[in-house]
Amino acid sequence: MAIDYQEKIPNNVDLASDRTLQRALEHWQPEFLNWWKGMGPTDFQSSDVYLRTAISVDPKGWADYGYVKMPDYRWGIFLADRDPDRTIGFGDEYGKPQWQQVPAEHRSTLRRLIVTQGDTEPASVEQQRLLGHTAPSLYDLRGLFQVNVEEGRHLWAMVYLLHAHFGRDGREEAEELLVRHSGDTDKPRILGTFNEPISDWLSFFMFTYFTDRDGKYQLKSLAESAFDPLARTCQFMLTEEAHHMFIGDTGLARVTRRTLEVMKELGTDDPETVRKAGAIDLPTIQKYMNFWFSSALDLFGSESSSNAALYFASGLKGRPDEGGYDDHSAINETYKLESPDGAGVKSEDIPMRNAMNDVTRLAYVRDCEIGMTRWNRTIERAGYDFRYTLPSTRFRRSIGVWANFSTDPQGRPISAERFEAQKNEWLPTEADRAFVHSLMHAVTEPGKMAAWIAPPDRGINNNTVEYEYVRLA
Ligand SMILES: [Fe+2]
Ligand SMILES: [Fe+2]
Repeated sequence: MAIDYQEKIPNNVDLASDRTLQRALEHWQPEFLNWWKGMGPTDFQSSDVYLRTAISVDPKGWADYGYVKMPDYRWGIFLADRDPDRTIGFGDEYGKPQWQQVPAEHRSTLRRLIVTQGDTEPASVEQQRLLGHTAPSLYDLRGLFQVNVEEGRHLWAMVYLLHAHFGRDGREEAEELLVRHSGDTDKPRILGTFNEPISDWLSFFMFTYFTDRDGKYQLKSLAESAFDPLARTCQFMLTEEAHHMFIGDTGLARVTRRTLEVMKELGTDDPETVRKAGAIDLPTIQKYMNFWFSSALDLFGSESSSNAALYFASGLKGRPDEGGYDDHSAINETYKLESPDGAGVKSEDIPMRNAMNDVTRLAYVRDCEIGMTRWNRTIERAGYDFRYTLPSTRFRRSIGVWANFSTDPQGRPISAERFEAQKNEWLPTEADRAFVHSLMHAVTEPGKMAAWIAPPDRGINNNTVEYEYVRLA
């Protein structure tokens, strides 16, 4: 269905045919805008930003580019087209028709899944709200705002499901999504990571590389759901999500490239010398990776989970790329799970369905490695021995079987004392963070970049890098 932009709320769900739903969402809309103005990017609300807006769900040509003031962005409701032949792809209900309505017995579980996903979207906007003041270029400033408005749209996507399918409870949850705030002592966001402020751009690129990629894998699991409106919502969100990871991927590549240039100019890889020249030394980047990767791993939940088994059995949440598996019931399979055993490690077989969080986590880890390999090739070509590595999935975990168990980044068990003694080699210290912060200054001349980051290879939508991506008001 085509998207009607004359509507107050652009949508492809035929909102006009359901007046009650339409009125309820039109009532939520000004509350959303109030939230955006109060908790979204500070300032810049009257700047013209070169943004893309979804205009259809067709994979080719789904977006339109143009200058928009952020509060005028057309947040809307877009679901991937319905496939009437689609059947449930996994679990005990395998092969039965997809659900168009929420089955009563899954109502509260589905609502919780949608609320948890929905909560992360505005949370990340709140976490990033101050970054605009220190953007390393107008190109990057635009990238930040693109991510922010699309996270706002992802909130719309979840709020639509709550309003359309969960009655009064759903409407109340939609209100609550605007009441909880990242880092708020009384009403924090649901997941821990989403309460940490992101106050420097290295962290922003880490977040968009590692944390948005967790989002990708959550969405991929929900895109398999037997609840068809949820599956189709998530399918389209994935289209937007790809750009967020592009920002992280190219951002970290550009930081690395700039550091290598400085190392070459100076003829040294000495971290202190590199820092004095205004670039971020590679060991510091590695420490940030260790921090962000390990915190993203926790978002997948416990390695062995009866909830995960239930979600899979009942068809609520599948495995990413379920179509690639031979056995969609996973009832007779087992999964080899390693866990701490005293000071050592033991291995046991658990039912595959209970291991779905870990299956998803490992798919995520493989996806994370792609960028690492590419950046390492750049370092190798520049003639240096340093290599980025992802720490072990056991390292610095707060959730799951490895929680509060000390290991080194290679995953070897160590004593808590040794972890304390060495953690400054593995994780960003206050001094590291202060150094990274000291580099954060806004660069606002079109085409110019801060000294710690290389320019992108190309601009957005066939424009040059010098294009004025944000017209500062
Ligand atoms: Fe999102
Ligand atoms: Fe995202």
